[in-house]
Amino acid sequence: MIDGDDFKAFVAAELERVRTRSFGLTTDVLDDAGLTAQHSRLMSPLVWDLAHVGNYEELWLLRAAAGIDPMRPEIDSLYDAFEHPRAERPALPLLRPREAGDYISLVRRKVLDSLDSIRLTPEQPLLDGGFVYRMVVQHEHQHDETMLATHQLRRGAPVLPDTDSAPPPPPTGPEILPPEVYVEAGEFLMGTSTDPWAYDNERPAHTRDLPAYWIDTTPVSNGEYATFVTDGGYDDPRWWTTEGWEWRNRTGQRSPAFWRREGGEWFRERFGRPEPVPPDEPVQHVCWYEADAYARWAGKRLPTEAEWEKAASWDPASLTKRRFPWGDEPPTPERANLGQGRFRPAPVGSFPAGESPVGARQMLGDVWEWTATDFTGHPGFCVFPYREYSEVFFGTAYKVLRGGSWATDPLACRTTFRNWDYPIRRQIFAGFRCARDA
Ligand code: AVJ
Ligand code: FE
Repeated sequence: MIDGDDFKAFVAAELERVRTRSFGLTTDVLDDAGLTAQHSRLMSPLVWDLAHVGNYEELWLLRAAAGIDPMRPEIDSLYDAFEHPRAERPALPLLRPREAGDYISLVRRKVLDSLDSIRLTPEQPLLDGGFVYRMVVQHEHQHDETMLATHQLRRGAPVLPDTDSAPPPPPTGPEILPPEVYVEAGEFLMGTSTDPWAYDNERPAHTRDLPAYWIDTTPVSNGEYATFVTDGGYDDPRWWTTEGWEWRNRTGQRSPAFWRREGGEWFRERFGRPEPVPPDEPVQHVCWYEADAYARWAGKRLPTEAEWEKAASWDPASLTKRRFPWGDEPPTPERANLGQGRFRPAPVGSFPAGESPVGARQMLGDVWEWTATDFTGHPGFCVFPYREYSEVFFGTAYKVLRGGSWATDPLACRTTFRNWDYPIRRQIFAGFRCARDA
């Protein structure tokens, strides 16, 4: 564990890094009209996300952690995600882009000023191990990914650079990967009780016992998904659940979001630029119903959340759990496509150095993976520090996604991290892999 001063320097650097990205997705690239417009009913105006991350930082790092009085109590309710659903946000008297930028920068200055005198004492759960700082840094990263989804839905001339900051994925050579890997029956440790970054929904660590199963070595590719489409997958109710078939009928969707067929070829729109669909990339922008239907068509099923986590993190040889599929060392461009180093997934089978103990690839990064499981608390779940992060979403309305995408920052991703969304959602950077009973 890094000590107090090193941790504070780390926090300051990470707050700076994430803010550069937030501005890079907002005020650096769009004018006031682009920032205040609602590009999709599914998303907030970008200027809402921008002020919201600053307001959240004020709530947790200035008021809760440092005991500093509210700066602008009258705006709190505007940026409370629970008072106002996304569709309503453009009608609110939001801070204008200039004001929003000034407000969040002022919050930030006060946070950096207060950091010196904060004692990260174990007596205060919020400060113990620096938890609240880790929570706020992750929160802004999560909104940066949400803002990228807004960019993907936005119409008009492209504004995001089409260049990679990460090196291309390492060449994988002539190897032929087995399509599935085997996970032997037995107990494993699910969740964590010790990770200082973990949210309440990842806790506590507990034993799960699973029967043996097979799980796909890689996420399902665009090429494989296209075969499902041309095979009439969207026209055969056998593959769909009742709700899925209703979704298909209601929406008229017959291919992943942002796909279009032209002259017998598939094209996609990616951040405002049309391009051929690369057959070897993991499919993204499919909803849970589509993933579930594909799996049934393929004679398989979606993995449960526990099956996903075991295949990603459990080393059956040493009976130990890994924070990342490859071990406990941090992500690098050789191990995973995370952190917006490239604005798309890497080809399936990439990153041999990122393989999990059972040989599964790309469990972290590239695309979020839908699982079969509803979002609920682990046994022994305890709310911390607020109900509205996780607990209010527990139930049958949301499905769990795992593993993070190319847009997820390494700090907001680990083998225990849990994401969730409605089974109809397609704007997120989500794909899937299949599994089956052994
Ligand atoms: C964990 C991605 C589902 O964006 O709704 C952001 C994260 N919580 N602000 C979301 C979150 C509060 C959350 N997800
Ligand atoms: Fe938020």
